[in-house]
Amino acid sequence: MLRIVVCVSGGGTNLQALIDAIGDGRITDAEIVRVISSSAGAYAMERARKAGIEAVSVVPAECGSRAEFEEKLAGEIRKADPGLIVLAGYLVVLPAALVEEYENRIINIHPSLIPSFCGKGYYGLRVHEAALERGVRVTGATVHFVDSGTDTGPIILQKAVEIQEGDTPEVLQKRVMQEAEHRILPEAVQLIARGRVRTEGRKVIIE
Ligand code: GAR
Repeated sequence: MLRIVVCVSGGGTNLQALIDAIGDGRITDAEIVRVISSSAGAYAMERARKAGIEAVSVVPAECGSRAEFEEKLAGEIRKADPGLIVLAGYLVVLPAALVEEYENRIINIHPSLIPSFCGKGYYGLRVHEAALERGVRVTGATVHFVDSGTDTGPIILQKAVEIQEGDTPEVLQKRVMQEAEHRILPEAVQLIARGRVRTEGRKVIIE
């Protein structure tokens, strides 16, 4: 059974998509053992508790320094002994040491087709604002492994979503979540849980 830790910062709809997929059997051989939030008031914590999953918060602003935060976060992750860490709307940069320790065992969901609209400063609604501002006709979502860069790791799955006339960032965000993120994140987790994903350099091979 793959032990998953999910890291969150906000509403937790991607966490919910994973909970639902485990509940209805789209994800087998995996369980969410702990949810870690960077914000004490995140609704994602409530979703975890409702599903009977242990939820803890490690809030950067409540730690004396970045080093103290990193140590606390690493401790909370290690305690759960995860085989996979899922960043599901986690808006804090992970400590470099953790990324190294859990190489190819951390995945992230990003609300665009990487390499468009990604990297530093591109998160949440800002991604959709940038896509609309650039006038792209197609956007989407990406699940990728986390490496030492920002949104630069090997790409596991992507799904395209069409822009529609009159889209606002909020409307587009919702469509990308429903049509892309909430589908490919559980799919990627299931592929990993079944041992079907390996990397070859920057590429991901799905077997
Ligand atoms: C999602 O759209 C996710 O892709 C995005 O934050 C949102 C979290 O929503 N993540 C990033 O922008 C990471 N760079 P959720 O809390 O409802 O899952």
